[in-house]
Formats: sequence, C-alpha cells, structure tokens
Amino acid sequence: MSALAYINGNYVDLSKAKVDALDRGHIYGDGLYEVIAIENGQLYQIDEHLERYEQGAKEMLYENHPSSSNLKEISQNLIDKSKINKGMIYLQVTRGTAPRAHAFPKPQKPNVFLFVKELADPNDTQKQDGVKTTLVPDERWNRCHVKSINLLPNCFYKEKARQEGYFEAIQVDNSKITEGTSTNVFGIKDGIIYTAPYGSKVLRGITRETILKLAKQENITVKENFITVENFLNCDEVFITSTTIKLLPVKQVDEVSFSVNEYETTFLLQEKLEEYIEDECN
Ligand code: PDD
Repeated sequence: MSALAYINGNYVDLSKAKVDALDRGHIYGDGLYEVIAIENGQLYQIDEHLERYEQGAKEMLYENHPSSSNLKEISQNLIDKSKINKGMIYLQVTRGTAPRAHAFPKPQKPNVFLFVKELADPNDTQKQDGVKTTLVPDERWNRCHVKSINLLPNCFYKEKARQEGYFEAIQVDNSKITEGTSTNVFGIKDGIIYTAPYGSKVLRGITRETILKLAKQENITVKENFITVENFLNCDEVFITSTTIKLLPVKQVDEVSFSVNEYETTFLLQEKLEEYIEDECN
C-alpha cells in the first residue's frame, strides 16, 4: 500500500481518511502541519520538524495535542507499514471538531492526520540548470514562523507563478525579500550568503538551518539579514531550499537572468547537503 494514512487512531488507505466537516482545520484553517522527508527508508530530521510543531502548538494555544514522541511513533509506523523508501510524510494537527464558533472549543480535541507517499527529488535539469522564479507581494500574516495550514496567499501566488511559467514565487514585504511560497530563499554576493532572518515573515526552515550549518562548516560567511529587491537582483548566485526540493539553483527572477553555469557556492552546498542526508540516513 503506497498511500497509507493515519487518522485519529486508525491506519487506513488515504482515500478512506475522513474528518468531520466541522473540523476547525476545514472551517477556519485552524491547524498546524509539517512535511518530513523519508530518505533511505528513514525519517530525516523528524526531531527538528517536531520541535517546530511543538513551538507552533504552544504559541497557538493548542491543547491536548499529540506529543512529539507519539507523532514520531505514528510516522515510523507509516514507513514500516508502507515500506516507502523515498518519500514524505504529511502531518497535520487541527484544533478538532466543534460547533462553528471563532473562540476555541473547551475542551479541545485535536484531529490528527498523517499520510505517507512516495516522492522523488527534483529532476537533474532543475538541480543543474536551476529554476525560474517571480517576485510577488507578501500578503501573509505576521506569524509566518508558525507552520499553519492557512496557506491561501502561498497557494494563490504559487498558482500565479505556475500559470506564468515560473517554478516558485518569491515574496517581497516592503521592498525586502522574505521567502518563497513553500521555500526559503538565499542570495550570494561577493562570497557572502544572505537570507532573511526567521520570524514574523519567515519560516525557520529545517533545510535552511542545515544549509546555514553546512555553510559555516565550509567557512562561508552567512548574514541573516533582509535584503532589498535591488540587492537581491544584484546577487551573484541565488537558490531556494525546502524539505521536498532540497536545494535548487535559481536561474531567473522575473526578467533578470543569473549565470548558473558560474555558480560555485550553490553547487558546493547542494553537494554537501546530499552528503549530509546520506550520512544522516545511511
Ligand atoms: N514547505 N517557507 C515556507 C513558507 C514553507 O512552506 C516551507 C516548507 C519552507 C521550507 O521549510 P523546510 O525546509 O522546513 O521544508 C519555507 C513544505 C515543504 C510544504 O508546504 O510542502
């Protein structure tokens, strides 16, 4: 079975996983999620993902939500049962089913939903030649560090990007680059890596954190600073990261082209990331 799900205590085929229509995730987008990679049949960086989930649950006042160790056990069971070697786990916890009312229900009884599926890395052309991106306004709320299932602005601008032939939309808040709709964004100028600091407008991406660690190991200077669109477009190299795409070079931002064939640091980090994943999950 390759599309296996867990819903509130039961392991079922994904097509059979159902929640009540009054689930607050459905009604209000009142839920948290994580996307965790499966590499060599193992959960990759699940502790980091669950730590972020715990922080979000605390900040958003979720009660009675499953513990990290419980979610880890369910994730492992999904791998064991599905035998998926390379893929992802989607994990979602909402504030549960309750009569429609904005204020939180008492007591809270979260709905817990996970599924596992096979997923390949981006293809070699994307990895080597890079992807095209477009700049869009950042219209999201000011708690983007919380991995909320409220993704309408992200979906809206990803779709706009795809319709216009771009792989990713990079969001801009007050002339500053924040992040992609589902990726973190990096620019390199004169050997220094710039990426927006995580916080109200930027998710603390797990891949972002790994890249920063690997860059430091390679003695590459990293500045977690917001950079302006003008400085961003002037960068020597640009790349994006996430759990599902790993690290992809950017070859174009709207009409501005970048010389991907001259990228050095980006490809070094791409290689180091692949080695890191291999080491972690061998
Ligand atoms: N998205 N920024 C946003 C807005 C994201 O949604 C994501 C991940 C990232 C990268 O974070 P990480 O390295 O922890 O995956 C940054 C996931 C993959 C998704 O929504 O499918």
